[in-house]
Amino acid sequence: MKTPTMCATVFHSPHHIEVQAVPRPRAGVGEAVIRITLTTICGTDLHILRGEYPVKPGLIIGHEPVGIIEELGDGVCGYHIGDRVLVGAITPCGQCRACLSGQWSQCGHGTDYEAIGGWRFGNTINGAQAEYLCVPFAQANLSVIPPSLRDEQVVLLADIASTGFSGAESAEIRLGDSVVVFAQGPIGLSATVGARLMGASLIIGVDGDPTRLRMAERLGADVVLDYRETDVVVEVKRLTGGGADVAIEALGTQDTFEKALRCLRPGGRLSSLGVYSGKLQIPYDAFAAGIGDYRIVTTLCPGGKERMRRLMELVLHGRVDLEPLLTHTFPLAHIVDAYALFGERRDGVLKVAIKP
Ligand SMILES: NC(=O)c1ccc[n+]([C@@H]2O[C@H](COP(=O)([O-])OP(=O)(O)OC[C@H]3O[C@@H](n4cnc5c(N)ncnc54)[C@H](O)[C@@H]3O)[C@@H](O)[C@H]2O)c1
Ligand SMILES: [Zn+2]
Ligand SMILES: [Zn+2]
Repeated sequence: MKTPTMCATVFHSPHHIEVQAVPRPRAGVGEAVIRITLTTICGTDLHILRGEYPVKPGLIIGHEPVGIIEELGDGVCGYHIGDRVLVGAITPCGQCRACLSGQWSQCGHGTDYEAIGGWRFGNTINGAQAEYLCVPFAQANLSVIPPSLRDEQVVLLADIASTGFSGAESAEIRLGDSVVVFAQGPIGLSATVGARLMGASLIIGVDGDPTRLRMAERLGADVVLDYRETDVVVEVKRLTGGGADVAIEALGTQDTFEKALRCLRPGGRLSSLGVYSGKLQIPYDAFAAGIGDYRIVTTLCPGGKERMRRLMELVLHGRVDLEPLLTHTFPLAHIVDAYALFGERRDGVLKVAIKP
């Protein structure tokens, strides 16, 4: 019998991806196959496309899936064919040492911890920019979408909201904290929303793109600073009376990491979300020679079905609405054009909805 095929976005080599026909996945033991109804492109996919983050040639990329269960493998119970589900970008196994110790994102591929091990889709296994997706450890990762929520209301929860909010959660923001968020791309904007949810008082958003600064205001920043025109460290110290309680880094550069640290009051918390390359340095004066009681924490996007359920509850009860970030829509067949628009940040793009 002929193997059924599907359309998928395949990475071939740096700067070369293609939508092509590939075999449709089947669900093995503990797996599920979903028919993708909506997905999107992440900044990390741009790193892959540009060859800055290596993946195997031939891999289907993408890691933000919403879809309908098409096939359930043996051992997956409590779900039905036809259920509409959200799956996190990170798919923990739920059984390894890391998962059972609460470090879901650092899930091991054996039984142990593995750095970034929970990120599988479009990294170590085929991803979501396709007509069908095989979900590993389905029992731990399929989250049924409440009927009243549309796909567009939940697709950004898979990655950017989970990541951005976790930047605020890892910083352990307390009621009344002042928070500065460096960069207002999709991740930083979600961190701004997360800071508001956690009870921050003053939220300062930093970026150099006027459209993104306006969106930051719309989503909850009290003050926005254009780093091209303002000495951000001086201004944050002035606005906060000596330094912010929390700084969230959402870009991944030496410059923003260092400025985030310099904006803090002694004993403040730096929560870092950016993906860095090369070397990251901490000048001694920026953290009081190591004895300023600073805390620096880093976080990889939390995944798993319970995380997705909680995030969907926030949308269901009107606490958050990230849909304004979905600025453009493309069919899967034209995803290469969507990558170009997104990569060049043309036309005020923030996130693109991709429909197979
Ligand atoms: N921790 C995680 O789990 C996780 C998950 C997804 C993405 N990321 C990383 O988060 C980072 C941000 O992702 P994104 O998709 O929001 O990126 P993006 O490229 O869309 O946005 C970056 C923003 O930074 C702004 N910027 C540039 N220089 C700046 C400066 N000096 N000061 C302030 N702002 C500046 C740009 O104008 C832009 O709006 C990336 O490093 C990405 O790889 C991390
Ligand atoms: Zn991502
Ligand atoms: Zn695990």
